Amino acid sequence: MKGLRYVKLSRNSGLKVSIISLGTWHLPRLREVDEAGAYKIDVDEFRKVLKVSYDNGLIFIDSANRYHGGISPVPLTHVGYAEKLLGQLLKEYDREEWVVATKVAGRMSPGPNGEGLSRKHVMWQIKESLRRLQMEYVDIYYMHRDDPETPKLEIMRTFTSLIEQGLVRYMGVSNVPAISLVEYIELAERYGLEPITALQYKYNLVEREVEADITPVAKRYGLGFVAYSPLAQGVLTGKYVDKEKRKWRVPELSRASYMKWIAKKYFTDSMLDFLLKFMNFAHEKGITPAQLALAWTINMEKVLGLPIIPIISVSKLSHLEEAIAASEIDLSSDDLKYLEEISRDVKFGS
Ligand SMILES: NC(=O)c1ccc[n+]([C@@H]2O[C@H](COP(=O)([O-])OP(=O)(O)OC[C@H]3O[C@@H](n4cnc5c(N)ncnc54)[C@H](OP(=O)(O)O)[C@@H]3O)[C@@H](O)[C@H]2O)c1
Repeated sequence: MKGLRYVKLSRNSGLKVSIISLGTWHLPRLREVDEAGAYKIDVDEFRKVLKVSYDNGLIFIDSANRYHGGISPVPLTHVGYAEKLLGQLLKEYDREEWVVATKVAGRMSPGPNGEGLSRKHVMWQIKESLRRLQMEYVDIYYMHRDDPETPKLEIMRTFTSLIEQGLVRYMGVSNVPAISLVEYIELAERYGLEPITALQYKYNLVEREVEADITPVAKRYGLGFVAYSPLAQGVLTGKYVDKEKRKWRVPELSRASYMKWIAKKYFTDSMLDFLLKFMNFAHEKGITPAQLALAWTINMEKVLGLPIIPIISVSKLSHLEEAIAASEIDLSSDDLKYLEEISRDVKFGS
């Protein structure tokens, strides 16, 4: 297998990342669940995933303080487990070889300051994340979401101070509305604070809302764009479609088997029609639907004019191998047009 290529994450930084990032929201799982219903993590498989990632140049890892790896939403008793496990396993490598991102804002404790982006919460949480990760710094620290209760200047000053203290290398923003994003950018410029370097939003062939207002901002200011859920929670792999019977199905242990909202949202008639065409198109190209979906994300650089770095989650080593092999698939403008045409009328359930 050929190694992944690297891209400069953003115009406003020198940081280089692999064209695919590995996420830790969901990790390889065993069959057993604990008393809270969380799957136990298959640590051996995760160790292999990290080894194959590293051997193929996939050095960009995504985490968050709240992630567990085997349950969602994550109860307070389980937050932090993904970072902890990642920290243990990355000890087997030279930390400097990896670009490690994590996030803050989600609820970590019951009190009034147990979530959000206040200086108090963020300065507490960076220490907690670094302790779990067994690292001295993280490369990218994202605001996981907006916090309308904290003044934006306080947030930007806090993140700038984390960079100045050497606890964080670059600042990132995830899920905030475009209006807030522009306000953060302007504040950094006006007050000479550290700039936002990375954006992280949901982006895949059937969920393209960011093209309206976020990717234009990324392009205008030279920010890096990192795309989460590139397979629409796994739906774009075709695993939930019984092709013969033209019906939905839920394989045992799949994500939709324990996150019931996936079926409610994605299992619609228009999505089924689209997926049957999508899967045929992948078949004609001699690739898997998962590879076509990932290739679409990466190839959208040609349309949007900025590198798009998908973050994958894998529950098996073979998912990772499939993704790595997809990183250099070239889609023509006719291919992109066809995919646009067949996905245009997809509707979601509530
Ligand atoms: N910033 C945020 O708010 C935010 C939100 C969501 C995610 N993220 C980040 O982005 C990462 C990726 O998001 P995501 O997990 O939603 O990504 P996704 O790519 O849409 O879904 C990944 C899931 O699809 C299934 N899968 C992957 N490859 C497959 C293959 N080749 N064949 C069959 N099934 C396959 C696996 O689930 P099964 O268990 O069904 O096998 C896997 O966990 C997360 O880990 C996290 O780091 C960030």
